Amino acid sequence: MVTGANGYVASWLVKRLLDEGLTVHAAVRNPDNTEKIKHLKEAAERSTGNIKFFQGDLLTAGSYKAAMEGCELVYHTASPFTIDVKDPQKDLIDPAVKGTENVLQSANHISSVKRVVVTSSCAAIYTDAIDSVNAPGGQLTEEVWNTTASLDYQPYSLSKTLAEQKAWEMAKAQDRWDLIAMNPPGVFGPPLNPHNATSESINILKMLGGGDMKMGAPRMGVGIVDVRDLAEAHFKAGFTPEAKGRYIVRAHNTDFLEMGTVLLPKYGGQYPLPKKALPKWLLMIVGPMTNKLFTRKFIRNNVNIPWKADNSKIKKELGMEFRPMQETMEDAFQVLVDEKMI
Ligand SMILES: NC(=O)c1ccc[n+]([C@@H]2O[C@H](COP(=O)([O-])OP(=O)(O)OC[C@H]3O[C@@H](n4cnc5c(N)ncnc54)[C@H](OP(=O)(O)O)[C@@H]3O)[C@@H](O)[C@H]2O)c1
Repeated sequence: MVTGANGYVASWLVKRLLDEGLTVHAAVRNPDNTEKIKHLKEAAERSTGNIKFFQGDLLTAGSYKAAMEGCELVYHTASPFTIDVKDPQKDLIDPAVKGTENVLQSANHISSVKRVVVTSSCAAIYTDAIDSVNAPGGQLTEEVWNTTASLDYQPYSLSKTLAEQKAWEMAKAQDRWDLIAMNPPGVFGPPLNPHNATSESINILKMLGGGDMKMGAPRMGVGIVDVRDLAEAHFKAGFTPEAKGRYIVRAHNTDFLEMGTVLLPKYGGQYPLPKKALPKWLLMIVGPMTNKLFTRKFIRNNVNIPWKADNSKIKKELGMEFRPMQETMEDAFQVLVDEKMI
């Protein structure tokens, strides 16, 4: 069973499960919205598996029970992924935390459930790139928790931190199902549902290729993973009996500028991609005027600060391998080009 099955990340996971010949219970907010689920139906038709759709809302208690009935493995991916919100408590924290509680309470009631894999995030580990510099050994590991996000500063990161903490608290209070947390950094790669994708990942790609950064991009330390590799990581986490604890699902330690410049050889002639780094001093002056999220604190803690996360646990325990960054970025960009979204 997969919550938020129509999302950017979940769609590739659903496809991976269907291609394995499995029956997937896909919980979405509105199964009657055919536009938002047609890519999943198509994936099912081309696979040896089966898909059944269910209605589920994070804020409605018990609404995932019907979808979970008879399932051994639950993937909880649904969570709002938007950066610019009006009311962080209502728009981010409540659906993330109460939603996790809701899904796991249903797991407590449905006796078939043996494992729950939650899609957490590296945002539950850090807020700003400087946190990775300050981490023991100068890199983020599964031992580290985010202690710097708040309702006023990076509330999305707070929502992921509190949601994952709620999940571990509830997992420890019972012994029928075990919990695995997937902690990816920024997810990129081709969307299966480009026109209905709400994920912030798609917005970042549009910014890179749409001219917003034609004068240059900030060297802002981030990590990335391909959406297809993340789906594989979820699959392995679900089906490897020995899998345990949190997994950082990081492919590359990188920065915004490099994410744009890997696209230059193929697309540089046609699209206004960033070619050089924007100086930090300039960003400190103009950044806060161009985007309210680009505060001086944010720029100070992220621009020209290297970001590092240790991915050795998932490589060793789940045998994960990751695609090159160029393939991830080009395949993602090509979808936006083909669909005339840039
Ligand atoms: N993309 C990244 O870079 C990234 C990085 C790390 C972790 N993650 C995590 O990966 C997961 C999926 O994110 P995504 O990038 O795939 O974003 P997405 O495409 O926006 O998917 C989010 C999913 O959550 C569902 N959802 C949101 N609010 C809901 C509610 N109140 N009730 C029921 N469903 C709700 C959405 O349903 P609707 O379609 O109906 O809105 C959608 O299916 C999230 O947990 C996110 O935090 C993403």
